[in-house]
Amino acid sequence: MKTILNRIDNDSQLAQNEFDYGETAFDTMYVCICNRYRECEIRDLAAEGARSPEEAYSVLGNGPRCGRCLPFARQVMDEVSAAEAVSR
Ligand code: FES
Repeated sequence: MKTILNRIDNDSQLAQNEFDYGETAFDTMYVCICNRYRECEIRDLAAEGARSPEEAYSVLGNGPRCGRCLPFARQVMDEVSAAEAVSR
C-alpha cells in the first residue's frame, strides 16, 4: 500500500513523494531536483568514499546543474562522514 505525501521541497516547489511502508524518507527524498538524485544515493556514495557532491554526482551520471542542492548534499555527506568517524 502506498501513501502519497505532498511536501514543499528545498526550492519551495510542490513535490510529491510516494512511500511504501518499510521505505524510509532517505529512500524517497530527492536531494537534487535537476538530476533526480535521491538522498539514499548520495548517502551510499558518501559511505563508499565520495568526498563531495560534485564527485557523487559525476558517479551518478551528471554533475550539478543549477547548484541549489549542493549545500544540502554536502550536509548529507558530512553526516555520513561524521557517523562513520564515530563508529570507527
Ligand atoms: S537541484 Fe541539483 S543541480 Fe539543480
